[in-house]
Amino acid sequence: MDKRPIGVFDSGLGGLTCVREIMKIMPNEDVIYFGDTGRVPYGTRSRDTIIKYVRQDIRFLKTFDIKAIIIACGTASSAALPWIADESDTKVMGVVEPAARAAVAATKNKRIGVLGTGATIKYGKYVSNIKDICPDAEIFGKACPMFVPLVENGYTDSEATRIIAREYLDEMKEKGIDTLILGCTHYPLLKSVIGDIMGKDVTLIDSGAVAARAAYDFLNEKNLLSEGSEDGTYRYFVSDSVEDFSTLGSMFLDRPIKESVEKIEIEGF
Ligand code: DGL
Repeated sequence: MDKRPIGVFDSGLGGLTCVREIMKIMPNEDVIYFGDTGRVPYGTRSRDTIIKYVRQDIRFLKTFDIKAIIIACGTASSAALPWIADESDTKVMGVVEPAARAAVAATKNKRIGVLGTGATIKYGKYVSNIKDICPDAEIFGKACPMFVPLVENGYTDSEATRIIAREYLDEMKEKGIDTLILGCTHYPLLKSVIGDIMGKDVTLIDSGAVAARAAYDFLNEKNLLSEGSEDGTYRYFVSDSVEDFSTLGSMFLDRPIKESVEKIEIEGF
């Protein structure tokens, strides 16, 4: 039993899809969330820059006495985690491995699609993780750079979003996949748009949610779950304006953010 909080971060709001699952399956856990809203998106940046940002995000979270860190960001998990995983004495988990495992468990025809940011698709970590478990899987990746700005601005179900989604997904539809990884933690907010286009026979894997479940398994195995009867507490930090965070963040969490949101200077870490 360990009462210390879990640290979770993302380039912006997307990681809240992971926190939403933590709230559901580990309601007693305290969470410290950092959204790097001043530097979002990460997905259009070089690996060196993403690694620099991720090191700073981790250093900030480690100013709290946390028991584990979840990189609730497909981009940071793909472009930085493999290079920095050994640097921290605190366990750091990403979204790629759990999503790859969930996709392999879900697919019947071994044809799997991956949607992600430009960096996520470029570094191919979903592909290599899936291939490690299922070498004969056929994997089709698609970068969807417009999705993050649409979601960050609340356009989760607008006509514009549907037009862009069709543009991205039409070619994916022709591949005959039966499983599609939403490889960026912002994309679960577009689940209904993506689901409508892909059809009900395609299983959508929510990378944020499966990462939360993998964290549960890790904490459970190491006897680090909080296990108290008290509800978890949540603290939110951002690197830019706190104004829209609560409104938009509530959409991601599917419940209102009542806690105060604090702004930090991430470049100082
Ligand atoms: N939520 C991030 C991800 O999972 C957003 C990407 C970005 O900042 O470009 O990839």
